[in-house]
Amino acid sequence: MTSTLVNPLRAGSRLEDTPQPASIVIFGATGDLTSRKLAPALYNLAVDNLLPPHFSLIGFARRDWTNEFFRNEMREGVEEFSRRPLDETLWAGFSQNLHFVSHEFDVPEGYDELKVLLDKLDQERGVPGNRLYYLATQPSYYPVIIEKLSEAGLAERANLRDDGSTRIIIEKPFGHDLDSARALNDQLHRRFTENQIYRIDHYLGKETVQNILMLRFANSVFEPVWNRQYVDHVQITAAESIGVEGRGRYYEESGALRDMMQSHLLQLLNLTAMEPPAAFDANAVRDEKVKVLRAIRPIQGNAVMDQVVRGQYSGGWIAGEQHDPYRSEANVDPRSSSETYVAMKLFIDNWRWQGVPFYLRTGKELPKRVTEVSIQFKDPPHALFATNGEANLEPNVLALRIQPDEGISWKVLVKTPGVKLGMRPVKMEFLYGSSFGAEPPEAYERLLLDVLLGDSTLFTRSDEVEAAWSFVTEILRVWDQLPPPDFPNYDSGSWGPREADRMLYRDGHEWRWP
Ligand code: BG6
Repeated sequence: MTSTLVNPLRAGSRLEDTPQPASIVIFGATGDLTSRKLAPALYNLAVDNLLPPHFSLIGFARRDWTNEFFRNEMREGVEEFSRRPLDETLWAGFSQNLHFVSHEFDVPEGYDELKVLLDKLDQERGVPGNRLYYLATQPSYYPVIIEKLSEAGLAERANLRDDGSTRIIIEKPFGHDLDSARALNDQLHRRFTENQIYRIDHYLGKETVQNILMLRFANSVFEPVWNRQYVDHVQITAAESIGVEGRGRYYEESGALRDMMQSHLLQLLNLTAMEPPAAFDANAVRDEKVKVLRAIRPIQGNAVMDQVVRGQYSGGWIAGEQHDPYRSEANVDPRSSSETYVAMKLFIDNWRWQGVPFYLRTGKELPKRVTEVSIQFKDPPHALFATNGEANLEPNVLALRIQPDEGISWKVLVKTPGVKLGMRPVKMEFLYGSSFGAEPPEAYERLLLDVLLGDSTLFTRSDEVEAAWSFVTEILRVWDQLPPPDFPNYDSGSWGPREADRMLYRDGHEWRWP
């Protein structure tokens, strides 16, 4: 078989490579994700000349759309959501590469039609292109699509040279507990090798999330203090001011623990807590991330009551707008016990982090949208300046602002001007926007480009996704047996249930106001 691909041994040399010809097939292309994120991301790659020559995008879904209709829908998506305005000349060329196949996901004819189209596109190009199957349907369709692709001869398991010319991208959620994630991994592994599988966690595509690694490992000042000796505790917050936004049906099944904690927040934790990898390549980085997940002390039985707080919004006001309770959202059970907020305290049992609490929280309908990782350092060993009651020994905090206002801030104590001895905390700030001027690419731009190039560093490996589920499933098990007695338990527009504050007070800490 002729290799048309990047040599996997060169994975990571992304900057020198340009992608090979490729067809991307998006299953479930009529959904929001394609028009809001994927089409604008591909369009922006085209603007930057980063798409392969002979690129095509095929939407595959049940709705009875024509090529023309699909192109129009994608155009609207680009017009509304692209970070750069639509350019008519570029769009004219780009849109000619968009095609649509309308079929049920479980019917062989759809896949036969797809195969004919893919072969035709290959012939027109004169080279066999890479094939990327993007599963963006409801997760319950994933198994049937994988089977049907395989039955149609569209997902041959790679040969020994494994050039990976066929790749599969799986949108989150990858399973809904440990057993289902394992079953999906097993099924995928029967048809694909691990390096053909790209499990998406879009947080990993965010520039500021990748910057956690750069900050830690491209500078020498942080590593010496990045451990139990100097760090008092770590807080990771991913707050959203929006509610479930018409996704009631999905949210009823998932809740915040599965939707955000199992994926995005644990990824932020991994990058913050991992050891330096031996190299910046897919396996070395992911090896270290998996070690963090495996070192998290399981939260089981009664510990769930002490270390995990769940909440559900009761409605209220956010930025002058009135919001309904979660239980009155569309497709939500009026007695629902799905959580829209979760906070937890966890420990990482290893040499670096023993005894350091990590507090994680995420929730919907909180006062604002903000994601940050903050490292709170210990007080100095001796309060040298604590004279006349004027010393204000606020700890040093390094806050990595993931979004919005992307940047980093350092809180340090400085002498206040004047002859009297006084100190005050000040912030030293770095802001991406003002330092670099340019708007960062969207996470999906980076992730789609990496799949085209065969670089899986920013994707979740099978052992990683299972380790994350293994931790979370223990908590779900306890929750399943004990429905929450006090839901709804926080006002929309507040920072979540009081119990989450109490969890930190008990340790002598408090949540930051990011
Ligand atoms: C998704 C969740 O993965 O991430 C959503 O399913 C959430 O519920 C979204 O709103 C948040 O992403 P971002 O990039 O806006 O922080």
